[in-house]
Amino acid sequence: MGNRLKPRFSVRRMMHAHKTHPPTPMKLTTRILALAAGFGAVSAFAQADLTEAFLPMFQPLPSLAPSPDNEISDAKVDLGRMLYFETRISKNGKMSCNSCHILDKYGNDNLPFSPGHEGKLGGRSSPTTYNAALHVAQFWDGRAPSVEEQAKGPVLNPVEMGAPSADFVVKVLKSMPGYVDAFKAAFPGEADPVNYNNFGKAVGAFERKLLTPSKWDTFLKGNKDAMTADEKKGFATFAKTGCVTCHNGAPVGGMMYQKLGLVKAWPDLKDSGRAEATKNEGDKGFFKVPSLRNVTETGPYLHDGSVKSLEEMVKKMADHQLGKQLTEEETTSIVTFLKALKGDLPTEYIKAPKLPESTAETPKA
Ligand code: HEC
Ligand code: HEC
Repeated sequence: MGNRLKPRFSVRRMMHAHKTHPPTPMKLTTRILALAAGFGAVSAFAQADLTEAFLPMFQPLPSLAPSPDNEISDAKVDLGRMLYFETRISKNGKMSCNSCHILDKYGNDNLPFSPGHEGKLGGRSSPTTYNAALHVAQFWDGRAPSVEEQAKGPVLNPVEMGAPSADFVVKVLKSMPGYVDAFKAAFPGEADPVNYNNFGKAVGAFERKLLTPSKWDTFLKGNKDAMTADEKKGFATFAKTGCVTCHNGAPVGGMMYQKLGLVKAWPDLKDSGRAEATKNEGDKGFFKVPSLRNVTETGPYLHDGSVKSLEEMVKKMADHQLGKQLTEEETTSIVTFLKALKGDLPTEYIKAPKLPESTAETPKA
């Protein structure tokens, strides 16, 4: 008993990760993993206990991801939705956030790398914008603290939307009375509401409601019949394998940075990950742990989109992050749980809005 399930990662190694992110229930995790080890083969009875023991590490999705510095109003969300779909602020006039984070495709483009305004590829895979506002920070390396700050990046990024400057973006928006009115309504009382910072705030407000609750949330809220027996067993397998150590919280991930290849080195890892943001050698190879919500829809996987199949991804995680070899049955069981994390798309909320008409003054980059 115990041996097969003994956690192979050391607490000291985990502590390193701990430094760079807000507290996770590490003590709880360690205690629970010890408990899980005690169960050995999971009998139906033990499975129920196991599930109960791990559930406190997860929360259902809220109805919006709150922000201390960006109050959410309908007017702000409506403006943010327009800006999310706005292509005229990009260099070639064709790219918007929705080109790479396609909302009716679960917020991503299903490509390893995303082509920008010149067709040039960025160096990382685009993550989904759904549920991202709940993460501890944005980007694979966490270099933006919030969705509001994040949104100001891609517009100016030369391999993404390639706008020449923030001033250009503001000029485009100010040239259209429809936008000027929308900014006034979203930022009432401000003398000069059409500015780049407010662009970020409006897009961020829209993203804070891009949430996709699934049957997992109904289950977490107490309806024990919301998940099938196989899905519940899948959660128990996910938990006892140790995946919960890193993938937890409301987004089932997104709460911390961790090393890719924590237990067994990841072959050919080129991206230095979190170290790019912190310039700290010790953060090399660390990435933000991704959310597993809608993970069946967001492949190919990892920061470089190098893994295509979810089954293969799960096996590699067990092997490289936990030092465990999963059987086919265990792999299928975990994937069955992951499928239950697929939520419904908010079809009304993400409908492409009517955008303000260009005028003779609207500049082109
Ligand atoms: C050309 C494709 C492209 C466009 C256009 C684009 N993004 Fe991204 N986005 C990416 C890529 C690639 C990443 C990951 C980059 C990294 O981590 O270094 C990313 C990361 C993000 C993240 C972080 C999510 C997370 O889980 O960390 C958010 C949020 C996001 N983009 C929102 C937006 C918004 C809002 C816009 C429009 C203003 C936008 N993106 C435009 C490709 C794109
Ligand atoms: C020690 C922390 C840790 C553990 C334990 C862990 N993961 Fe991960 N997981 C990560 C990190 C970090 C990444 C992202 C790495 C990257 O992109 O380079 C990731 C990525 C993934 C992805 C890809 C998601 C995407 O959108 O690209 C899946 C799926 C996944 N993990 C599932 C699991 C499963 C299932 C287990 C248990 C067998 C598990 N993980 C255990 C840290 C962990």
